[in-house]
Amino acid sequence: MFELETPQTDSKPELYETLAEQLEALLGDERNWIANLANTAALLFHTLPELNWAGFYLMDDRELVVGPFQGKPACVRIAVGRGVCGVAAERRTSVLVEDVDAFPGHIACDAASRSEVVVPLVAGGRLLGVMDLDSASVGRFDGEDAAGLEALAAILLRSSDVDGR
Ligand code: SME
Repeated sequence: MFELETPQTDSKPELYETLAEQLEALLGDERNWIANLANTAALLFHTLPELNWAGFYLMDDRELVVGPFQGKPACVRIAVGRGVCGVAAERRTSVLVEDVDAFPGHIACDAASRSEVVVPLVAGGRLLGVMDLDSASVGRFDGEDAAGLEALAAILLRSSDVDGR
C-alpha cells in the first residue's frame, strides 16, 4: 500500500522534488500507461494544495479526449487550439493562466475554476496529450509549478509504455 504524504514545505522546488520521489515510488515497475496516468492524477490531486481538478487529456485521432483524472466530471473532447488544454497541445509548451476570466476561449468545465496550468506530454516527438491542473484560487500556479509539473510529466513518460495504447 502506498502512503500519501503531503510534503510540509513553503518552497515549491522542494515540494516538487519530494513529489518526484513519491511519483517514482508510486509508479515503481508498472509500465501500464493508463494505470500510471490514473495514479499520477491521484497523487497530484491529493498532495498539491488548492486544486479542484487534476488529470489528463489524451490525443485521440486529432483531438483531446478526457483521460484519468480526479475532480468533478469534465468536458470530454477538446479540439487542438481550443481552450487552455488545446492551446498547450498546439504549442507543445506549458500554459499558465492566472485568471481564467482573462483567457479568451477558456473552457469552463467546473465553474469554480479560477486559474489553471497545462503541461504537454510529448514523447519521441509525438504529442500524447496534456496534464491539466485547475484551482478555485486566482493566481494559484506560477513558473515554479510549471517547472515542477514538467519534471513530473517527464517521470510519468519515461516510466510508462506509451505505445501500449
Ligand atoms: N479549462 C480547460 C478544460 C478542461 S477542464 O479545466 C478540466 C481548458 O480551457 O482547456
